[in-house]
Amino acid sequence: MAYYCSFKPLLLFLFFLIATTQGIDSITTHLHFFLHENYNSPNATSITVINSTTSNPGDFGSIGIFDDEIREGSSVDSKLIGRAQGIAPGVSLRQTTWLVLLNFVFTEGEYNGSSLTVVGRATLEGTSERSIIGGTGKFRMARGYTINTFLIRGGPAVHLIAEYDAYIVH
Ligand SMILES: *[C@@H]1O[C@H](CO)[C@@H](O)[C@H](O)[C@H]1NC(C)=O
Ligand SMILES: *[C@@H]1O[C@H](CO)[C@@H](O)[C@H](O)[C@H]1NC(C)=O
Ligand SMILES: *[C@@H]1O[C@H](CO)[C@@H](O)[C@H](O)[C@H]1NC(C)=O
Repeated sequence: MAYYCSFKPLLLFLFFLIATTQGIDSITTHLHFFLHENYNSPNATSITVINSTTSNPGDFGSIGIFDDEIREGSSVDSKLIGRAQGIAPGVSLRQTTWLVLLNFVFTEGEYNGSSLTVVGRATLEGTSERSIIGGTGKFRMARGYTINTFLIRGGPAVHLIAEYDAYIVH
Protein backbone atom coordinates (compact mmCIF):
# COMPACT_ATOMS: atom_id res chain seq x y z
CA MET A 1 0.00 0.00 0.00
CA ALA A 2 2.81 2.39 0.86
CA TYR A 3 4.35 1.48 -2.48
CA TYR A 4 1.13 2.39 -4.34
CA CYS A 5 0.75 5.72 -2.50
CA SER A 6 4.26 6.92 -3.28
CA PHE A 7 3.68 6.35 -6.99
CA LYS A 8 0.30 8.04 -7.16
CA PRO A 9 1.69 11.62 -7.34
CA LEU A 10 4.12 10.53 -10.03
CA LEU A 11 1.33 8.97 -12.10
CA LEU A 12 -0.78 12.10 -11.67
CA PHE A 13 2.20 14.23 -12.73
CA LEU A 14 2.74 12.11 -15.84
CA PHE A 15 -0.95 12.32 -16.69
CA PHE A 16 -0.89 16.13 -16.46
CA LEU A 17 2.34 16.32 -18.43
CA ILE A 18 0.80 14.33 -21.29
CA ALA A 19 -2.45 16.34 -21.14
CA THR A 20 -0.56 19.64 -21.18
CA THR A 21 1.75 18.62 -24.01
CA GLN A 22 -1.22 17.61 -26.13
CA GLY A 23 -2.96 20.89 -25.23
CA ILE A 24 -0.13 23.06 -26.55
CA ASP A 25 0.45 21.22 -29.82
CA SER A 26 0.92 24.00 -32.34
CA ILE A 27 1.52 24.27 -36.04
CA THR A 28 3.27 26.86 -38.16
CA THR A 29 1.38 28.24 -41.14
CA HIS A 30 2.96 30.33 -43.88
CA LEU A 31 0.65 32.67 -45.79
CA HIS A 32 1.68 34.69 -48.83
CA PHE A 33 -0.61 37.48 -50.06
CA PHE A 34 -0.71 41.02 -51.39
CA LEU A 35 -2.13 44.14 -49.79
CA HIS A 36 -3.79 46.65 -52.12
CA GLU A 37 -4.36 50.17 -50.89
CA ASN A 38 -6.18 52.77 -52.93
CA TYR A 39 -5.70 56.29 -51.67
CA ASN A 40 -7.65 57.96 -54.48
CA SER A 41 -11.25 58.99 -53.99
CA PRO A 42 -14.00 58.07 -54.69
CA ASN A 43 -13.07 54.49 -53.79
CA ALA A 44 -10.19 55.12 -51.41
CA THR A 45 -9.47 52.30 -48.95
CA SER A 46 -7.30 54.61 -46.85
CA ILE A 47 -7.93 58.09 -45.45
CA THR A 48 -5.91 60.59 -43.45
CA VAL A 49 -8.13 61.67 -40.56
CA ILE A 50 -5.56 64.01 -38.97
CA ASN A 51 -2.73 65.77 -40.78
CA SER A 52 0.54 66.47 -39.04
CA THR A 53 0.56 69.87 -37.33
CA THR A 54 4.36 70.01 -37.30
CA SER A 55 6.90 70.74 -39.98
CA ASN A 56 8.77 67.50 -39.37
CA PRO A 57 9.55 65.58 -42.53
CA GLY A 58 7.98 62.35 -41.28
CA ASP A 59 4.27 63.21 -41.05
CA PHE A 60 4.70 63.16 -37.27
CA GLY A 61 1.33 63.17 -35.50
CA SER A 62 -0.78 62.32 -38.54
CA ILE A 63 -3.33 59.51 -38.28
CA GLY A 64 -4.45 57.29 -41.14
CA ILE A 65 -7.25 54.71 -41.11
CA PHE A 66 -7.45 51.96 -43.70
CA ASP A 67 -9.65 49.10 -44.87
CA ASP A 68 -7.36 47.71 -47.56
CA GLU A 69 -7.88 44.67 -49.75
CA ILE A 70 -5.91 41.47 -49.36
CA ARG A 71 -5.58 39.65 -52.66
CA GLU A 72 -3.90 36.43 -53.75
CA GLY A 73 -1.75 38.24 -56.27
CA SER A 74 -0.23 41.60 -57.11
CA SER A 75 -2.70 42.19 -59.94
CA VAL A 76 -5.70 44.38 -58.99
CA ASP A 77 -8.11 41.77 -60.38
CA SER A 78 -6.59 38.77 -58.58
CA LYS A 79 -8.80 36.97 -56.07
CA LEU A 80 -9.92 39.00 -53.01
CA ILE A 81 -9.23 36.92 -49.89
CA GLY A 82 -9.79 39.43 -47.09
CA ARG A 83 -9.28 42.91 -45.68
CA ALA A 84 -6.51 44.63 -43.75
CA GLN A 85 -8.25 47.00 -41.34
CA GLY A 86 -6.36 49.30 -39.06
CA ILE A 87 -4.85 52.57 -37.97
CA ALA A 88 -1.43 54.07 -38.61
CA PRO A 89 -0.23 57.16 -36.70
CA GLY A 90 2.99 58.85 -37.80
CA VAL A 91 5.41 58.39 -34.90
CA SER A 92 8.83 59.55 -36.02
CA LEU A 93 10.27 63.08 -35.80
CA ARG A 94 12.94 62.26 -38.35
CA GLN A 95 11.59 60.06 -41.14
CA THR A 96 8.30 58.75 -42.46
CA THR A 97 7.48 55.97 -39.99
CA TRP A 98 4.14 54.69 -38.76
CA LEU A 99 3.10 52.59 -35.81
CA VAL A 100 0.69 50.17 -37.52
CA LEU A 101 -2.06 48.34 -35.66
CA LEU A 102 -4.13 46.13 -37.93
CA ASN A 103 -6.31 43.06 -38.28
CA PHE A 104 -6.02 40.80 -41.29
CA VAL A 105 -9.58 39.51 -41.69
CA PHE A 106 -9.82 36.55 -44.05
CA THR A 107 -13.00 36.00 -46.08
CA GLU A 108 -12.14 33.07 -48.36
CA GLY A 109 -11.11 29.44 -48.21
CA GLU A 110 -9.74 27.58 -45.20
CA TYR A 111 -9.26 30.76 -43.12
CA ASN A 112 -12.61 32.38 -43.93
CA GLY A 113 -13.79 34.00 -40.69
CA SER A 114 -10.36 33.86 -39.03
CA SER A 115 -8.20 36.88 -38.31
CA LEU A 116 -4.69 37.89 -37.30
CA THR A 117 -3.77 40.92 -35.20
CA VAL A 118 -0.49 42.57 -36.20
CA VAL A 119 1.41 45.42 -34.55
CA GLY A 120 4.62 47.04 -35.67
CA ARG A 121 6.60 49.64 -37.48
CA ALA A 122 6.10 50.63 -41.10
CA THR A 123 8.39 52.66 -43.33
CA LEU A 124 8.24 53.18 -47.05
CA GLU A 125 11.79 51.99 -47.57
CA GLY A 126 12.99 48.41 -47.74
CA THR A 127 11.41 45.54 -45.87
CA SER A 128 9.34 45.79 -42.69
CA GLU A 129 8.93 43.11 -40.07
CA ARG A 130 6.00 43.20 -37.63
CA SER A 131 4.72 41.05 -34.80
CA ILE A 132 1.64 38.87 -34.94
CA ILE A 133 0.30 39.22 -31.40
CA GLY A 134 -2.87 37.17 -31.65
CA GLY A 135 -5.66 35.81 -33.76
CA THR A 136 -9.19 34.43 -33.89
CA GLY A 137 -10.88 31.35 -35.37
CA LYS A 138 -8.24 29.00 -36.83
CA PHE A 139 -5.61 31.46 -35.59
CA ARG A 140 -6.55 31.48 -31.90
CA MET A 141 -3.49 31.97 -29.67
CA ALA A 142 -1.43 33.00 -32.73
CA ARG A 143 2.12 34.28 -32.44
CA GLY A 144 4.50 35.05 -35.26
CA TYR A 145 5.69 37.72 -37.62
CA THR A 146 5.04 39.28 -41.00
CA ILE A 147 7.56 40.45 -43.57
CA ASN A 148 6.44 42.94 -46.17
CA THR A 149 7.91 44.84 -49.07
CA PHE A 150 6.27 47.57 -51.13
CA LEU A 151 6.03 46.71 -54.81
CA ILE A 152 4.34 49.87 -56.03
CA ARG A 153 3.70 53.18 -54.37
CA GLY A 154 3.15 56.78 -55.30
CA GLY A 155 1.65 58.54 -58.28
CA PRO A 156 -1.91 59.88 -58.32
CA ALA A 157 -3.32 56.97 -60.37
CA VAL A 158 -1.38 54.20 -58.69
CA HIS A 159 -2.40 51.92 -55.89
CA LEU A 160 -0.03 51.02 -53.11
CA ILE A 161 0.72 47.30 -53.32
CA ALA A 162 2.72 45.39 -50.72
CA GLU A 163 3.78 41.75 -50.76
CA TYR A 164 3.33 39.95 -47.43
CA ASP A 165 4.66 36.74 -45.94
CA ALA A 166 3.11 35.79 -42.60
CA TYR A 167 4.61 33.06 -40.42
CA ILE A 168 2.05 32.05 -37.82
CA VAL A 169 2.41 29.67 -34.90
CA HIS A 170 -1.07 28.72 -33.65
C1 LIG B 1 -15.65 53.05 -57.61
O1 LIG B 1 -16.39 51.89 -57.29
C2 LIG B 1 -17.58 51.76 -58.04
C3 LIG B 1 -18.34 50.56 -57.47
O2 LIG B 1 -17.54 49.43 -57.44
C4 LIG B 1 -17.22 51.60 -59.50
O3 LIG B 1 -18.39 51.49 -60.29
C5 LIG B 1 -16.42 52.81 -59.96
O4 LIG B 1 -15.98 52.62 -61.28
C6 LIG B 1 -15.21 53.03 -59.06
N1 LIG B 1 -14.57 54.27 -59.43
C7 LIG B 1 -13.26 54.35 -59.61
C8 LIG B 1 -12.73 55.71 -59.98
O5 LIG B 1 -12.50 53.42 -59.47
C1 LIG C 1 -4.72 66.77 -45.00
O1 LIG C 1 -3.93 67.41 -45.96
C2 LIG C 1 -4.30 67.08 -47.30
C3 LIG C 1 -3.26 67.68 -48.25
O2 LIG C 1 -2.97 68.98 -47.90
C4 LIG C 1 -5.71 67.60 -47.56
O3 LIG C 1 -6.10 67.28 -48.88
C5 LIG C 1 -6.65 66.93 -46.58
O4 LIG C 1 -7.94 67.46 -46.73
C6 LIG C 1 -6.19 67.14 -45.15
N1 LIG C 1 -7.00 66.31 -44.28
C7 LIG C 1 -7.47 66.74 -43.11
C8 LIG C 1 -8.25 65.73 -42.31
O5 LIG C 1 -7.27 67.85 -42.68
C1 LIG D 1 -17.22 32.87 -45.45
O1 LIG D 1 -17.93 32.77 -44.24
C2 LIG D 1 -19.14 33.52 -44.22
C3 LIG D 1 -19.71 33.45 -42.82
O2 LIG D 1 -19.72 32.14 -42.35
C4 LIG D 1 -20.09 32.96 -45.29
O3 LIG D 1 -21.28 33.71 -45.31
C5 LIG D 1 -19.40 33.06 -46.64
O4 LIG D 1 -20.22 32.46 -47.64
C6 LIG D 1 -18.06 32.36 -46.60
N1 LIG D 1 -17.36 32.62 -47.86
C7 LIG D 1 -16.79 31.66 -48.56
C8 LIG D 1 -16.17 32.06 -49.82
O5 LIG D 1 -16.76 30.50 -48.18
